[in-house]
Amino acid sequence: MCNRRHIFGLLLLVITYLNHIKPILDAHCIECHSPGNFLDLSWYPFHSQNLSEQSAIVERMILRVQPGVGQMPPGHRPKLTTDEIETIQQWLQSGLNI
Ligand code: HEC
Repeated sequence: MCNRRHIFGLLLLVITYLNHIKPILDAHCIECHSPGNFLDLSWYPFHSQNLSEQSAIVERMILRVQPGVGQMPPGHRPKLTTDEIETIQQWLQSGLNI
């Protein structure tokens, strides 16, 4: 049976770190979250081999890029678009594919 959820599931599979996530982080985050920084977002899997730790980091990223107090990136830098935030959410839901 072909339904929307099935089609959505197929779309989730195509989100990968290299194609979709790294370009967003390189453009908006790496200026500060670089190697040697307290939160190094420069390379998958963010210095953890453990999927639940990786997921926890990505969940923190998703929380901090939402509009509100402490929104990343800080200051007057351009914020992530709704599409970019959804892409990160879909990447998390589909298992953090590289
Ligand atoms: C101009 C520098 C700068 C940029 C660019 C920046 N950050 Fe941050 N970030 C900080 C600083 C400084 C802190 C620590 C203070 C705080 O928590 O607000 C921080 C804290 C965080 C934290 C909380 C710390 C933790 O370990 O959970 C997360 C998550 C985060 N940033 C994610 C991001 C993401 C994702 C981006 C890109 C969309 C980004 N940041 C862009 C400077 C930056």
